[in-house]
This record gives sequence, structure tokens and C-alpha cells, in this order.
Amino acid sequence: MNILLLGSGGREHAFAWKMTQSPRCDQLYIAPGNAGTETEGTNLPIQVNDFDGIKNAVLDLNIEMVVVGPEVPLVEGIFDFFQSDEDLKKVMVIGPSKAAAALEGSKAFAKSFMKEFNIPTASYEEFTQENLSGGLQYISEHKAPYVLKADGLAAGKGVLILDDQNEAQKELENMLGGKFGAASSKVVIEEFLSGIEFSVFVVTDGKNYKILPVAKDYKRIGEGDTGLNTGGMGAVSPLPFVDEILMKKVEERIVQPTIQGLQKRELNYIGFIFLGLINVDGEPFVIEYNCRMGDPETEVVLPRIKSDIVEMMKASYEGTLDRYELQIDDRTATTVVLVSGGYPEAYEKGKWISGLEQTHGSLVFHAGTKNDAGAIVTNGGRVFAITSYGNDMNEALEKSYQNAEAIQFERKNYRRDIGFDLK
Ligand code: AMP
Ligand code: GLY
Repeated sequence: MNILLLGSGGREHAFAWKMTQSPRCDQLYIAPGNAGTETEGTNLPIQVNDFDGIKNAVLDLNIEMVVVGPEVPLVEGIFDFFQSDEDLKKVMVIGPSKAAAALEGSKAFAKSFMKEFNIPTASYEEFTQENLSGGLQYISEHKAPYVLKADGLAAGKGVLILDDQNEAQKELENMLGGKFGAASSKVVIEEFLSGIEFSVFVVTDGKNYKILPVAKDYKRIGEGDTGLNTGGMGAVSPLPFVDEILMKKVEERIVQPTIQGLQKRELNYIGFIFLGLINVDGEPFVIEYNCRMGDPETEVVLPRIKSDIVEMMKASYEGTLDRYELQIDDRTATTVVLVSGGYPEAYEKGKWISGLEQTHGSLVFHAGTKNDAGAIVTNGGRVFAITSYGNDMNEALEKSYQNAEAIQFERKNYRRDIGFDLK
């Protein structure tokens, strides 16, 4: 069948790389894609939230499956757009309905869902401009650190963690006053949890589920987890601290009640659930839900899946995941992200990239790259994710770092300490 993949990051290059290995994949199209996805299929100049443009491409190109990479089209309802259109109804959209994607699109929705189904998470209250004084009081009655979350999507910037009570109160006023636009017209304030974070990915058909390899990403720009938050500077899978006992707790206390909760609330969910978890003294808590795969976690999770993921996604659409046999590669996978100098603040694009042909022994996934009349140039903050396999983490990292050096562009930056806390 012909497949359309939406997105343009390292996650999407990894999906494209994995999907084209499937005998079920005939033509692969990527919208809008990058210079890497172009080597796996055909890039289309369509933005991920241009539903009419996507519809035209799907009909013109006989596309039978649409795989949605990022959250924005899901939260905006691309699944429902396809279901409610006579011409598109039969197309398999791999992603949840708009109502279910609110697990990522609204922190308040996610928190009330977890409360209802007894899923372990930080205790919380939600506030709007109308009860600002209640919010200020809540802060004065609780101890630091204060965790303030904009309810809606804020491009990964909507969470503030503050040590000072006055500052937290001021920020609450700012947020409710429109600091993140409509996204912060409601704010969730929650208990601070202390522990090590990890990401669990689940694929579901709404009733059955499979748990994909566990991963950890490194969010801060600076070594030793310091400095500003980024989209993610590297990732590792599997993780030494996530043993069978912890995974059993995750499955019983989080995965199963989440799937049951979706069914009880009649939320139509096909595709990937990303559980952002924290291990607090051996007990897993949910920090956040995302309605998609993570980036850069996908760049280590998909390489560890040996079975056919097109088959897996088809089974998730058709409700037959119980019959799908997920096969996992035992090796460790690591990825190291090369970023543009200045990122996650202002950075320049259009830098000429060299050395790609000198890489070997790694999968070089493109993120912010573009083919400019035959020359590959930088086109984003995160530029490449360099994934390697190893019998252990150090062996994998060694290869990723060798190739990180081989690739050159002006003001290239990367963290030299991915996996530092796992050694
Ligand atoms: P979120 O967008 O909800 O994933 O939050 C972004 C980051 O803030 C998370 O990856 C955590 O590092 C941190 N964070 C969020 N909620 C909490 C919490 N309740 N306790 C401690 N850290 C948190
Ligand atoms: N790596 C975290 C995310 O994709 O949101």
C-alpha cells in the first residue's frame, strides 16, 4: 500500500527508515519531510496541519495509510477529519481522535483522567483567571518547588518549576494573563516529584496493547543536565534501572488503567501513547501523556524493533494487535543529537553540511536538514540524530560519538555526556 507520513524531524526519518523495510510499504510519501526522508521516499511540500492539502494528496496518490508524527495535527483533529469525510473514511489514520489526543492537548484533562482511573501522578489543582486568588493561596499554603503547567500546547515551554514562592505567584499571574496565549488561560499547579525520568511507549488499538522498548531522553542543552530545555539532545534504550519489577508496576498501575479509562470514556485511540514517567523510589508516576512517539526516543526505540511496524500499525487500526508478535532486538541503542549553535535560543539556518559520506556503523537520522539544489544544509535547531547499536551502552555511544565528529557544519554543538547517569 501507499503510505503518507506527516512530520519533518528525526522521529519521522526513523519512521521512514523502518517503514520502508516492510514488504507492505509500496510508495512512501513524507509531508513535509527533510533531506533524510527524501532518501526513503518522496517528500511533499504540505504542512502537517494543512488538512485540505493532505486530503488532496491522499486522493491523488492513492494513499491507504496516514502515519501522524507530531501532536499538532492530532490535537487539531486529523483523525476525526478523515472519519467524517466520505472520500477519506477508509484511509487508516494512525493516531488518536481529537477527544483522546486531549491527553496531551490539555494538562487539566490528563490530570482529571488520571484521578478518575487512579493512575499514579502528582497531586494537583487547576486555576483560571476567575480563581486567581485561590491559586495564589494554594501556592502560599504549599512548599517549594512549585510546578506550574499551562493547560494547552505551548511547544514544550509551558512548564515552569520555581523555587521561590513570590516568583511562583507572579508567574501564575503572568500565565493566566496570557504568557502562553490561550494555552495558559488555565494553569495546573502540581506537587513536585523527585526521581529519574523515563519514557514508555505503548501502541494500542483501543483495547489491546503492546509495550515498546523503554527509553530515556536528555532534555537539557548542557552537560550534566544543565541549562535550558530542548526538544531532546540524545536518548538511550534500554535502561539499567528499569527492571522487570518496575515495568510490571508500570503495566499494571499505568498502562492497563489508561487503556481501560479510554474505553470507559469512549475515547477512540489508535496508535502510540507516550508515557512520560518518573521513578520515585521504585514507584512509577506519570508526569505527562503524549499522543505520539517521542523525539529523539523514536530514534532508539524503532531500531530496537525487529518485527514489521507497518504490520503493527495496521493491526492497531484494525483492532487485531493481540495477534501481532512484537520482536525486540536485545542490543542497546543510543542516539546523539547534533544541534545548531545557539539552539534552543536563536540560531542560524542554511549552514553547509559535510562529512556525511565519512560516517559508518551508525544510522544517521536527519532532523533539521534541507536539500538546497543538491547541497545538504541545516534547516532547524536539531540537525541530526546519530543512532548506534552496541552490546552495551558504552559500545553504542562510542560509535555515535565517532560519527558525531565526522559530520561537520559551522557552530555544530552536541552533548558529550549522553547516558552519564546510567553508567
Ligand atoms: P511536561 O511538559 O509535563 O513533561 O513537563 C516538562 C518537564 O518538567 C518534565 O519532563 C519534568 O522534567 C518536569 N516536571 C513536570 N512535572 C513535574 C513534577 N510534578 N515534578 C517534577 N518535575 C516535573
Ligand atoms: N523527547 C520528548 C518529546 O518528544 O516530547
